[in-house]
Amino acid sequence: MRTATVTINPQAMTHNLMQVKKRAPSAKVLAMVKANAYGHGIAAVLPALEQADGIGVASFTEAFEARRLGWDKAVGLVEGVFSASEWQQAIDNGCSCVIHHAPQLQWALDCVPIPNSPTRTVWLKYNTGMNRLGFDEQGVISAAKLLYDAGYQLILTTHFANADDCDHSLTSMQIQRFNEVLTILHRDVDKNIKASLCNSAGIINYPDSHCDWVRPGIMLYGSSPVTDQSASELNLQAVMDFSAQIMAFQTVKQGEAIGYGSRWVADKDTRTALVSVGYGDGYPRVVNDEAYVQVIDSAKQKRYTCSVIGRVAMDMLVIDVSRTPIALALDSKVILWGATLPVDDVAQHAGTISYELLCRLSNRPLRVIT
Ligand SMILES: Cc1ncc(COP(=O)(O)O)c(C=O)c1O
Repeated sequence: MRTATVTINPQAMTHNLMQVKKRAPSAKVLAMVKANAYGHGIAAVLPALEQADGIGVASFTEAFEARRLGWDKAVGLVEGVFSASEWQQAIDNGCSCVIHHAPQLQWALDCVPIPNSPTRTVWLKYNTGMNRLGFDEQGVISAAKLLYDAGYQLILTTHFANADDCDHSLTSMQIQRFNEVLTILHRDVDKNIKASLCNSAGIINYPDSHCDWVRPGIMLYGSSPVTDQSASELNLQAVMDFSAQIMAFQTVKQGEAIGYGSRWVADKDTRTALVSVGYGDGYPRVVNDEAYVQVIDSAKQKRYTCSVIGRVAMDMLVIDVSRTPIALALDSKVILWGATLPVDDVAQHAGTISYELLCRLSNRPLRVIT
């Protein structure tokens, strides 16, 4: 059987959540589970998030799934709603919404907030420099006044553009702008207005800005959010293992090329193995010549690092097994990424970020929860 497999380890997620809580002990945690929990599956990870205070989703589909699975804590819609009728849907399903532009503000003001309804809490987005979602300074102050007067409870929020780089001048600027507006709102509107700035990188690089809510995503899944420290240096554990099996061996003669485009040419006779995984499963086609996998020799209980050679195809890829034992079994397990091979490495070899690799796995691999 073809066994490209995605294995989810919820205990690793609980461990990572504890790392968030250690770093931000007095903040509440909105655990980001949008994009099907960064490709891990909402159902697979929710039980590991019991200690979180809420979850962040980007769509009602994700919110409904979480509710169907029994999640009864806060659900935050991080892009807010897209129409007046969706505002009512948010009320009906107990979601809190981001309000980032005038139409959303109006939909909120057109309803009277219900006491004790989660929708009474609004995540008011201030554009401090990312320049995607959010009101400008004057806009956010007047929106806050209107929402407060209408009976809403506010969390002033913003999103960092470059928090992965601990020295980026824009981040200091974003924090300064945010704090100035927060001070004005505390003075002129309500001193109980809450604040939320930090994604994973912010949690690590900007501990003075944790405020009332942190919003970790990628670090919960065990990948490093920052440029200068690896996941293991941050004591994060990979939640996903992506693996496949060797399906055939070949010896490619010197001067012969492998695969589509004949990109890789053997400079000597080379023992190769075909692995039953490809871009149709979610392994990136664009990996460079530095990309590698780990082959597990179950007979010898050993692990070998093998280069990916030739172009990754839809259903298979080829690896160089010249340094593994000749007797390597046909069905040997091949680790593509996971606890022993950081997805951050694969992402680097593919010229992208771990987020993209995790989110764009296809539904073809088998899914296992440990
Ligand atoms: C508003 C918001 N907050 C937090 C996050 C989590 O970011 P990260 O995965 O980098 O921790 C995201 C993700 O894109 C987001 O959009």
